[in-house]
Parts: sequence; structure tokens; C-alpha cells
Amino acid sequence: MMETERIEEYLLAHSDEESELLKALNRDAHVNLLRPRMIAGHLQGRVLKMFCRMMRPERVLEIGTYTGYATLCMAEGLEEDARIDTIEINDEMEDFIRKYLDPSPDKGKIRLHFGDAMEVIPRLEGTFDLIYIDADKRKYVDYYDLVFTRLRQGGLILADNTLWSGKVVEEGSHTDGQTAGILEFNEKIKRDTRIEKVILPLRDGLTMIWKK
Ligand SMILES: C[S@@+](CC[C@H](N)C(=O)[O-])C[C@H]1O[C@@H](n2cnc3c(N)ncnc32)[C@H](O)[C@@H]1O
Repeated sequence: MMETERIEEYLLAHSDEESELLKALNRDAHVNLLRPRMIAGHLQGRVLKMFCRMMRPERVLEIGTYTGYATLCMAEGLEEDARIDTIEINDEMEDFIRKYLDPSPDKGKIRLHFGDAMEVIPRLEGTFDLIYIDADKRKYVDYYDLVFTRLRQGGLILADNTLWSGKVVEEGSHTDGQTAGILEFNEKIKRDTRIEKVILPLRDGLTMIWKK
């Protein structure tokens, strides 16, 4: 086993476990879905829950539900009266999502929306304390511009995959749209003086953006 794999194993062995429901979701996704690697996974899931524990947000927004794995992790960390709105463009995921959302003790905290986040977000009311951006990498800048005014002062945006498998540091021109989208987003975040930001080298890169 490579050292990075041993470290990954050690990290998981010394962090909180996933619930049985999340383990079952993960197994089901790896057997039955085409792109199970899009799931946040054990370690990042525990990190997302910990952010919710620490921040105690009343309103959370997730852009890109996929299986609902990260949704369930964040919901676990929320107070009983807090809410998470999660948006998924692909309504073919509905049966899979509901299979794990319905039996969850945190179901009551979750509002599931289907549609393009760019159209759904303007229809949601109020402001958010925590926003998790994890949908189409080509549109990160658009999501960011759309949600910025909807994030309260002192609120946090978490943007996933901001290292994009290391492609952000590859030499040469970036013709693929997803890499270009992430590069554009990272440059915009770097220049934005309305925020404080740190990229955590967790999994595929998780940018923490705090609104001044
Ligand atoms: C990386 S997956 C999300 C993984 C999930 N957040 C997790 O951590 O377990 C990205 C999802 O975003 C969805 N998506 C892509 N573009 C979208 C859009 N414009 N609005 C809403 N969802 C979108 C995709 O269909 C896909 O299911």
C-alpha cells in the first residue's frame, strides 16, 4: 500500500465513522451509479458536518445534490430548527436520493429542489449562513455571483474541487471547459476584496470563502 493510502486509512480510522445509512448509500452508489467519485465521501463528509457544528448555521444552501450524501452529512450537524436547501438539475436522481433521505432522522431539515440552480436560487427566500458549491465546474463563477448577495455578512461559502485533480497547475493551455471554469473561479476569488479565503488541500481542494 502507498503511503498516501495508509495515511488516508489512518485519517478515517481516527475520525468519526459514517452512519450505517451513509455506508449503505456509498455502497449502492458504487454498484449502481456511473460517477460515484462525485460523492463527497467519508472524510469530507465528516468535515462538512463539523463546519455545521462549529458555525451553527440556520440556513444552508447546497448547489449540486447528486446522491444527497453531503446533504445528509451537513444535515447531521445542524440544529433541529435549521434548514438546508439542496438543488439538483438531474431529476433522474430523485428515487436514489429519496431512498436515503426518507429514512434519515434528519429528513425534516432538508428541502430538495430539482432544476437548474441558476433558476431555482432566485425563487428561494431569504439569506444563507453557509453555501456549498459543488455542481457544474464551468459555472462556478455564475453560481458565486448569483449567491453572493444571498450570503449573510460573516457567512461562509465552501467551493469543492478547486484543485480539480491538480489540473489547475498543469502547464499549457486549458481547453477543457471544466478546468477553465475552475481556473477562472480561483482567479476571481483571489482578487475579490469583499472576502477572506483559504484553499484547503482536502481531497480535490475545498475553498473556504468568508464574507466580510
Ligand atoms: C459533484 S456532484 C455533487 C455531489 C454532492 N454535493 C456530494 O458531495 O455528495 C455535482 C452534481 O451537480 C449537478 N448539477 C450540475 N449542474 C447543475 C445546476 N446548474 N444546478 C443544479 N445541479 C447541477 C449534477 O447533476 C451532479 O449531480
